[in-house]
Amino acid sequence: MTATAEETTTRQAIASLNVITATTADLQSQIKQAHWNLVGAGFQAIHEALDTHADAFRLLTDEFAERVRALGGIPAGTVRQSARASILPDLEVRELPWEEAVEELAQRYEQYSQHLQECAKRIGESDLATQDLCIEAIRAADQYAWMLRANLGPLAEGSRGRGSRRR
Ligand SMILES: [Fe+2]
Repeated sequence: MTATAEETTTRQAIASLNVITATTADLQSQIKQAHWNLVGAGFQAIHEALDTHADAFRLLTDEFAERVRALGGIPAGTVRQSARASILPDLEVRELPWEEAVEELAQRYEQYSQHLQECAKRIGESDLATQDLCIEAIRAADQYAWMLRANLGPLAEGSRGRGSRRR
């Protein structure tokens, strides 16, 4: 028996959501890693801000995983499962000067946002609830990337912001 178009669409949404769940969990853990290993004059403000970011991505991980369940799938979101499926590069195990932590994390937020934009477009109107969830996460990632980079000082016109610093 061949799958209906709707079943195929749902399977694809579940697969995309599982990658996003894993990547969001990975991102949350990398934010905590930076929160712990920060050093330098910007420590206190960034250290506190990163807890806010980590909390937001932890809640988003939960929302993505529960969307997988709502669609009839099984989330694979343990630390080990997330590490295998995440699209993000890992953070090194070392002290992180705060400017470097800002840059490393902002790049990951932007990469995450870009990935979710592609998923949101692909899922399109066939699954509005999943698309809406992706858009919520894109907004958070873009806002936090801006807030992190603002710590580095004035942003030259057109040289920073979403889309201008992607790898
Ligand atoms: Fe802490």
